Amino acid sequence: MGKDVLGTSVVPFRASVVRVGCRVASAGGPPGLPIVALSLVVALAGCVAVQPATDTANPASPSLSTSTPTPTTSTAPLAYTPDIAPIFVSDCVPCHAGSRPQGNYSMANYAAVMRDVSPGNANSVLVTKTQSGGSMYRYFSVDRAGRADMVRRWVVNYQAAASR
Ligand code: HEC
Repeated sequence: MGKDVLGTSVVPFRASVVRVGCRVASAGGPPGLPIVALSLVVALAGCVAVQPATDTANPASPSLSTSTPTPTTSTAPLAYTPDIAPIFVSDCVPCHAGSRPQGNYSMANYAAVMRDVSPGNANSVLVTKTQSGGSMYRYFSVDRAGRADMVRRWVVNYQAAASR
């Protein structure tokens, strides 16, 4: 008796789970009551967790995928302390500081950074390394093209100024 009731009660649950389209590993053999309850909870949790995520993914991505304008683009002059140092600190200093900086190039402060900068010169090592195709370009954590362009313009257009 008890087994019959269990057996019939499991089938509708499975059917509804499949219809909704959630991935639920079938319980396989004849499940005991705890397993049925557990798999049901897992199935419901899975549905609840998955559906909102797919719903919100589409509306969110168009607004985020548009190119994010950098506030400093082409208007305000760029300088090391307010504009460039924060980028270097987050993306470069972790490797380029300390007693043994990577590439034997410290970026711990302005004077150290300037070792690979020739003000006004687009062929400065710092510029060539950070442009697309350069070996350091990949380390810009966000907005790579924008940050690479900021570094280039800082060196070339603003003579690698220390401050504004
Ligand atoms: C994961 C560690 C790491 C990070 C992060 C990193 N670098 Fe480097 N960097 C290296 C290594 C290793 C070298 C030497 C190999 C090479 O030149 O590609 C190097 C070399 C350089 C050089 C050439 C130094 C010289 O005179 O030969 C420059 C300039 C440079 N990095 C700038 C940067 C900038 C700017 C950033 C941040 C956007 C950055 N690096 C992030 C590891 C790193």
